[in-house]
Amino acid sequence: MTTGTQAQTVTVRVPGKINLGLSVGPLREDGYHELSTIYHAVSLYDTVTVQPADDWSVHVTGPWGEHVPTDDSNLALVAARTLAKRRARRAKVDPVRIDIDKHIPVAGGMAGGSADAAATLVGCREVWGLDHLENDLLEMLGASLGSDIPFLLHGGTAMGSGRGEQVTSVLARGELHWVLWAGEGLSLSTPQVYAECDRLRAEGGVTPGAPEPSGALMTALRRMDTDEVAAALHNDLQEAAISLEPVLAEALSAGLDLGARAGIVSGSGPTVAFLVGSQTEAIDLSVGLAANGPTGDIERAVGPAPGAQIVHQRSNP
Ligand code: C5P
Repeated sequence: MTTGTQAQTVTVRVPGKINLGLSVGPLREDGYHELSTIYHAVSLYDTVTVQPADDWSVHVTGPWGEHVPTDDSNLALVAARTLAKRRARRAKVDPVRIDIDKHIPVAGGMAGGSADAAATLVGCREVWGLDHLENDLLEMLGASLGSDIPFLLHGGTAMGSGRGEQVTSVLARGELHWVLWAGEGLSLSTPQVYAECDRLRAEGGVTPGAPEPSGALMTALRRMDTDEVAAALHNDLQEAAISLEPVLAEALSAGLDLGARAGIVSGSGPTVAFLVGSQTEAIDLSVGLAANGPTGDIERAVGPAPGAQIVHQRSNP
């Protein structure tokens, strides 16, 4: 049985993220890298619907649906079950059915799996009537499941530290326009990209210091000057992602040739984010990339976008 509230179907919208700056430090003993990043949520959304059911299940539709596992390894399902287990100490909760409409590229460096898990936590909190569960607690639970989940709950533009799970807001006003390119058939495993970064550093005799946020990027975001932001974008994982998927270099130079203010691999890749100055520039670039760039899925987006939030709820009979 639920914890006393009426059974509900709850729909949550959650954004994908890109990293405007990503500084990667040394490998820690727990297998993660210490990092300093500026997360930026963009208006490319997954929609996650949660409702009580007889059994636990997850169903995925949408342009990237077929690439998502629907077995017990699905991170949204893991998130729902983990929250239920924590609750089980106080009151029993119903299993849920989770429906994901998948628009964020899968294994693309935009934290799509973490986004669905974040949305599921918000949806389950509502369905199970756990109103007392503050965002901070949900973020802590999310952090135990994936480093990017606290940010997907938070949204906007924010600094991430530790392994990325410690999130604090960043002062940024106005909007940035983006064109996102996800190469056809491309996917990169996050651990593999971090390992390649370590390998390239060892090969070059580079010993990473403590990762630090970029002052130039913070200043550019405060002013929200597109060209200043363009000049300050930085990703320590970009070289590793290109080393594993050389077509990314081709995509980056195609975008720059077609007028992007800057291009950057998103997180561990392989999605590439191009910064442009306006919606018109975004349309021009996406048309140009579709005609002349390497084959891929092209989306326009604006940032910052809000974190996981309920967009619809309905009481069940
Ligand atoms: O936290 P998450 O499950 O998304 O991390 C996936 C993998 O990415 C980790 O197991 C680790 O190999 C790598 N990673 C890392 N340093 C981080 C975040 C992730 O090495 N700060």
